[in-house]
Amino acid sequence: MAADRRPEDMSRITTPELADAFIEEQVKEVRAQVGDKKVLLALSGGVDSSVVAALLIKAIGQQLVCVHVNHGLLRKGEPEQVIEVFQNQMKANLIYVDATDRFLDKLAGVDEPEKKRMIIGNEFIEVFAEEARKLDGIEFLAQGTIWPDILESEKGIKAHHNAGGLPEDMKFELVEPVKILFKDEVRVVGKQLGLPDNMVFRQPFPGPGLGVRCPGAITRDRLEAVRESDAILREEFAKNGLEGKVWQYFTVVPDFKSTGIKDGKRAFEWSVIIRAVNTTDAMTATVENIPYDLMCHLTERITHEVKGVNRVLYDFTPKPTGTIEFE
Ligand code: XMP
Repeated sequence: MAADRRPEDMSRITTPELADAFIEEQVKEVRAQVGDKKVLLALSGGVDSSVVAALLIKAIGQQLVCVHVNHGLLRKGEPEQVIEVFQNQMKANLIYVDATDRFLDKLAGVDEPEKKRMIIGNEFIEVFAEEARKLDGIEFLAQGTIWPDILESEKGIKAHHNAGGLPEDMKFELVEPVKILFKDEVRVVGKQLGLPDNMVFRQPFPGPGLGVRCPGAITRDRLEAVRESDAILREEFAKNGLEGKVWQYFTVVPDFKSTGIKDGKRAFEWSVIIRAVNTTDAMTATVENIPYDLMCHLTERITHEVKGVNRVLYDFTPKPTGTIEFE
């Protein structure tokens, strides 16, 4: 079994050599814990679960079963990247579940933010549990728990978000190979395991995904406007040296329309709101000073390339009084 707590004298993993040593040690420990049994992992494509997947593929190969649930609220290209990296390149045993319709049907007409989050969370567990029940001989559940998760749950700041959630009758022993690592260490280990930079160094992305960036009741066309405008923003931030510099950036498409003009005709369409913030702990945040020319270019692209959008706005609100997300 891996150490339950981070040793007080453990030095920070900052170099490829230290990452290699950690990987080697964990590979041994996971093999000793799991033997020839099977391990299940919910692979979201986020940093922590991706690093756990890569580590376990190295340690136990086909004994790991990854389940990637696409809830329809992922960013453009995300499910494709999970399949490319883990199935095609790392040859993982990956089950891909496109549950988009299930999630969007359940969310239809629901405009209350907390209710939306609850539906997404519960449905996720249900889809994952259904997939787990179809499999034989799974005895372990791998999780991307990291050291701050454990510290925060001990302090009562948040429930240990990885632990639990599955139905009572589904009892697995946990495999948590990165649980004594800080986030920056997880990234160094992930890079050393061969994961692509845009997976290892990605900005935070909430579990309920684009669902919280499509305020009010989600519709497929407005969700598409969020996804497409977000893809343009990410592309332009990467091209202009802001990727990796700005802590979190995204677009929001609220449920209101205004009058504009397109091709000489009245266009009654949505506005895209750009949000770009910096923070260290997400408790407070300041607004990024996006260069004016880039703002104009983003506006030009979004209003011309995203269907149903005729305006672009910038959210100048720090946290507080705003929150980082918009809903
Ligand atoms: P707020 O909006 O509370 O966000 O200032 C702080 C950080 O948490 C993320 N966030 C979420 N993450 N589920 C998540 O997994 C959620 O419901 C959720 N809401 C906010 C947000 O993206 C930011 O990084």
